[in-house]
Amino acid sequence: MSQTDPTQTPLASDGSFEVHLQKSGQTLQIRPDQSILQALQEAGHEVPFSCSQGVCGTCLTPVLAGQPDHWDMYLTPEEQAQGNVIMVCCSRSQTARLVLDL
Ligand code: FES
Repeated sequence: MSQTDPTQTPLASDGSFEVHLQKSGQTLQIRPDQSILQALQEAGHEVPFSCSQGVCGTCLTPVLAGQPDHWDMYLTPEEQAQGNVIMVCCSRSQTARLVLDL
């Protein structure tokens, strides 16, 4: 029986995905109508942020696994293509699961 790695598989068709927080060991479900930042805040995590629009870079968070879907205007196209950081205020995921260094 082969096991599917959710950091390698596309996210659900409704746009929801899960974020696993490596340091805290917590897994959050991100609804289509909320940002990763909002889900983190609801779960009691204090993540620095300022603009909430992908412009300032304050919410930059390292990505350990999974493929971000970048919506920010802060990272260069090269940085976005590398996929090892994400702006949690506005960007989402291309894979069913993202693992963040939080
Ligand atoms: S809070 Fe400004 S880029 Fe996310």
